[in-house]
Amino acid sequence: EEDPVTVLVTGAAGQIGYALVPMIARGEMLGPNRPVILHLLDIEPAAEALNGVKMELIDAAFPLLKGVVATTNVVEACTDVDIAIMVGGFPRKDGMERKDVMSKNVSIYKAQASALHYTIDGFSQRFSLLLPLLIVLLVANPANTNALILKEFAPSIPEDNITSLTRLDHNRALGQISEKLNVHVSDVKNVIIWGNHSSTQYPDVNHATVSTDKGTKYVRELVNNDHWLNTEFITTVQQRGAAIIKARKLSSALSAASAACDHIRDWVLGTPKGTWVSMGVYSDGSYGVPPGLIYSFPVTCEKGEWSIVQGLKIDEFSRAKMDATAEELIEEKALAYSCLH
Ligand code: NAI
Repeated sequence: EEDPVTVLVTGAAGQIGYALVPMIARGEMLGPNRPVILHLLDIEPAAEALNGVKMELIDAAFPLLKGVVATTNVVEACTDVDIAIMVGGFPRKDGMERKDVMSKNVSIYKAQASALHYTIDGFSQRFSLLLPLLIVLLVANPANTNALILKEFAPSIPEDNITSLTRLDHNRALGQISEKLNVHVSDVKNVIIWGNHSSTQYPDVNHATVSTDKGTKYVRELVNNDHWLNTEFITTVQQRGAAIIKARKLSSALSAASAACDHIRDWVLGTPKGTWVSMGVYSDGSYGVPPGLIYSFPVTCEKGEWSIVQGLKIDEFSRAKMDATAEELIEEKALAYSCLH
């Protein structure tokens, strides 16, 4: 049997947490042969609910689940963790200023970054057979900027190990194309989400393809409706989160949890040959995106390392949209840093 991997899920008593932890315990994230230990963190007001989640995990008798720690202690939760999925955060409530929400989340991510930093610092010699060092996925909004704050205050974690979730947006884009063309979603690939996980994100289909009986075709050629692709398709993906809230009176949870599993699985186990996925990663300046932002790019992964797909042609339409979402991230970053002082 393989070595167990310890996975931290913060905000584990919340909606996404409730959908996510059984997926991890069933092996949907790391494969059917990889035992897991779950560390579940939430805050004091949710402690009882968190314990209920732990009880259900025990009751589900998952063969791969080798242990559950449910705690409200950040240091205990972060100790000896291989993979950290950060879902806990302060939600925006009606009438709240953007700055107030940002300020709450900045202080949460500053504190949790320090806890992760110290546990790694203390265990820098430890070595997991699957992953040499902790990897982090930021789900809680504002996800890209929270990831940046976490990076800032966890200097022992290499910047390449800190990412944010745009896989849900990526999967939504695949879903829209699949519905439009009436093809199976697994035959559609290589859409791109550029930028922020927000309504300024740019879902780009210029390089996306579909496998058909007659070989691989470009989505643009098959859809044959540039107007739809340049307008309704983009806004549907950008505003899908709001549409789900309207329909469910709750925000997306099962699809968000599933996307988080996809993100970690592809990162750790690798993307299939010829396929890329979207991840929020620390910009190195590729495609003229300002360095020092966590920005969603197309990436391929191998053996736990991601790399940005290079050399894609960017037309003027795309350039403007990629710049607009970068602008928003620059503003968010400035707002976040202003909350630090
Ligand atoms: P939720 O409100 O149901 O759950 C959040 C949980 O986090 C709660 O149990 C809360 O007690 C906990 N929490 C709050 N502060 C915490 C802290 N300091 N440490 C640990 N836990 C803490 O929310 P839901 O629906 O599960 O969403 C979670 C986050 O994910 C939200 O920020 C949401 O905006 C974001 N999200 C991101 C998506 C993405 O694609 N990046 C998609 C969908 C949601």
